[in-house]
Amino acid sequence: MKVLIATSKPFAKVAVDGICEVLKNGGHEVVLLEKYTEKQQLLEAVVDANAIIIRSDIVDAEVIAAAKDLKIVVRAGAGFDNVDLEAATAAGVCVMNTPGQNSNAVAELALGMMVFAVRNFYNGTSGTELMGKKLGIHAYGNVGRNVARVAKGFGMEIYAFDAFCPANVIAADGVTPLASAEELYKTCDIVSLHIPATAETKNSINYDLLKTMPKGALLVNTARKEVIDEAGMVKLMEERNDFKYVTDIMPSNNDEMVEKFAGRYFSTPKKMGAQTAEANINAGIAAANQIVDFFATGNERFRVNK
Ligand code: 3PG
Repeated sequence: MKVLIATSKPFAKVAVDGICEVLKNGGHEVVLLEKYTEKQQLLEAVVDANAIIIRSDIVDAEVIAAAKDLKIVVRAGAGFDNVDLEAATAAGVCVMNTPGQNSNAVAELALGMMVFAVRNFYNGTSGTELMGKKLGIHAYGNVGRNVARVAKGFGMEIYAFDAFCPANVIAADGVTPLASAEELYKTCDIVSLHIPATAETKNSINYDLLKTMPKGALLVNTARKEVIDEAGMVKLMEERNDFKYVTDIMPSNNDEMVEKFAGRYFSTPKKMGAQTAEANINAGIAAANQIVDFFATGNERFRVNK
């Protein structure tokens, strides 16, 4: 089978080498499309692909329609909001992710961004410490769990809210489960976002929720930009000069945020959470193994579409 690795933001070379080895040992041919800048390049590359490995690359109905021989798309990572699942299902294409494989990398970045923000972006002025601060983990999935583990080392008081994870699972990790997002934001000095982008969560982190955070609050977003109500964030930061926002996913209104909130706002230029050699190897090789298995045995574990 022909497997296309389509990554506008490439994996580390060591990961690509590992992925190619797994796929070739499984009897497959590999085609690499890295650092592409136009959708047209992807549309041309998918024409004869039987499988595709992607990251945050957009696989919409047009891409699926262009990929006439496509059987499987594996998102090497957690979130699959970049794939049109309905179009894939309609075309008989299996979509998978590789849950958990890059979560430590994202968690480490979240804590790194916290330190960066509470130390005033390393500008030479006196900041604050994480020890003793109340940390709210919004959604207790693979990344949230890792954030809790690392934050314990900093001596933080840890709380979490997750609409789907049972309270006893959260409590078993020594984390205090809270009953609602409202309670989490009201309680915590720092909130770390780990919710996926879905129809329900889009714009859900809004002015009303954020305004209840304590004085000197910090929001850290290593999840998705779509979950933030950007106009609400501007309004809040205009009203509260004690509020800081750091994000690994550049918002649509980045220029406005930089101009208005210098010293209280930071965005990475490109999403860096999963951009480590380890995460690339873990997620990339898992994706390759899942493809080999899918064609060899029909294994559809990790399928995310119907
Ligand atoms: C994910 O959903 O796995 C993360 O957001 C990482 O995305 P990336 O592979 O595009 O860096």
